[in-house]
Amino acid sequence: MKVGVIGSGDVAKALASGFLKHGHETMMGTREAAKLGEWAKKNPKGRVGSFSEAARFGEAVVLAVKGAAASEALRGAGTANLTGKVVIDATNPIADAPPTNGVLKFFTSLDDSLLERLQREFPDARLVKAFNSVGSAFMVDPTFRTGRPTMFICGNDDGAKRTVTGILEQFGWETADMGKAEAARAIEPLCMLWCIPGFLRNEWSHAFKLLRT
Ligand SMILES: NC(=O)c1ccc[n+]([C@@H]2O[C@H](COP(=O)([O-])OP(=O)(O)OC[C@H]3O[C@@H](n4cnc5c(N)ncnc54)[C@H](OP(=O)(O)O)[C@@H]3O)[C@@H](O)[C@H]2O)c1
Repeated sequence: MKVGVIGSGDVAKALASGFLKHGHETMMGTREAAKLGEWAKKNPKGRVGSFSEAARFGEAVVLAVKGAAASEALRGAGTANLTGKVVIDATNPIADAPPTNGVLKFFTSLDDSLLERLQREFPDARLVKAFNSVGSAFMVDPTFRTGRPTMFICGNDDGAKRTVTGILEQFGWETADMGKAEAARAIEPLCMLWCIPGFLRNEWSHAFKLLRT
């Protein structure tokens, strides 16, 4: 598959490298290509372009930018370049305020989510929340003693979720589909939970697993 990755931070780089490793063609998109010079050197098969070039390139698109800039980044990617495409939304709505006792602050409420806001603004993109509830170091081929961790996903388009489930399978995850876009109200705050041991005890090496009988 051809994948466009919008972003130049740790998540964008981890996922773009993962897509290349697993045999996909990949273009990263940024407003400032110089930020990705080192990544491009390490990943000679990877391409670097603007937000809109990456979105146009991708049959599927990954959104991995600062939460507060997510809407602006998708506008920069261009509505036409997103139409009908699976958009994997790895963002979290983290506010610009410090955590309280290790608990991050969000700019959304429990009756709203960033994924829903983006899906409303870009109705022709097929958004799927994924990869937001684990650190970038574990997104691709995680190795935990207890086996495959669980990635919680949601979105309104079942076909898009099947595509993302296939990618997660390839990247070493089991998937738990939590339903439609509103489920992002529960999945996005998993990021708060994931970060608490990090902020309190500098423990950042864990992932969630859903146990079933
Ligand atoms: N770090 C993690 O381990 C982790 C784990 C799970 C989820 N997440 C979520 O994944 C997303 C990316 O996280 P990150 O740590 O990799 O990077 P980040 O520092 O949160 O975001 C960097 C990206 O945001 C873009 N950006 C910032 N301001 C912008 C603006 N005004 N307009 C357009 N784009 C703007 C930058 O674009 P340019 O390239 O153009 O500068 C850059 O690509 C975040 O939403 C984060 O909450 C992070």
